[in-house]
Amino acid sequence: MAVEKLNHVAIAVNDIAEAKRLFEDILGLAASEPEIVETQKVKTVMIKLGDTRIELLEPTSGDSAIAKFLEKKGPGLHHLCYQVDDIEATIDAMKNSGRKMIDETARPGAHGTMIAFAHPKSTGGVLTEFAEVKK
Ligand code: CO
Repeated sequence: MAVEKLNHVAIAVNDIAEAKRLFEDILGLAASEPEIVETQKVKTVMIKLGDTRIELLEPTSGDSAIAKFLEKKGPGLHHLCYQVDDIEATIDAMKNSGRKMIDETARPGAHGTMIAFAHPKSTGGVLTEFAEVKK
């Protein structure tokens, strides 16, 4: 199993249109068109930043996990996503080291990826996503 790169850094925001102004208007980066992910009840945009991306997450419903995060902690860093070459091997390596996975098995993410989240208590307090990108 190998980690290939930092796939994205995700930031929870109340308002994507407002939040992306920093990246587009001031920092001169390009944001994707907003995409609604129904299963997660979020609206997202991806901002390309060299070989990685910033993902902005805005809740589309009061019962979305992002809405709960915003209520508890306010806007801010939500998770990091490491791109790995083998998601199942990564989950096994985490479990074998006694670390807690939120997703015990990989599930489909955006754009044909397979993803799994680790529990922040097992990753130094940072919610961590692993993603295998189909090549
Ligand atoms: Co993510």
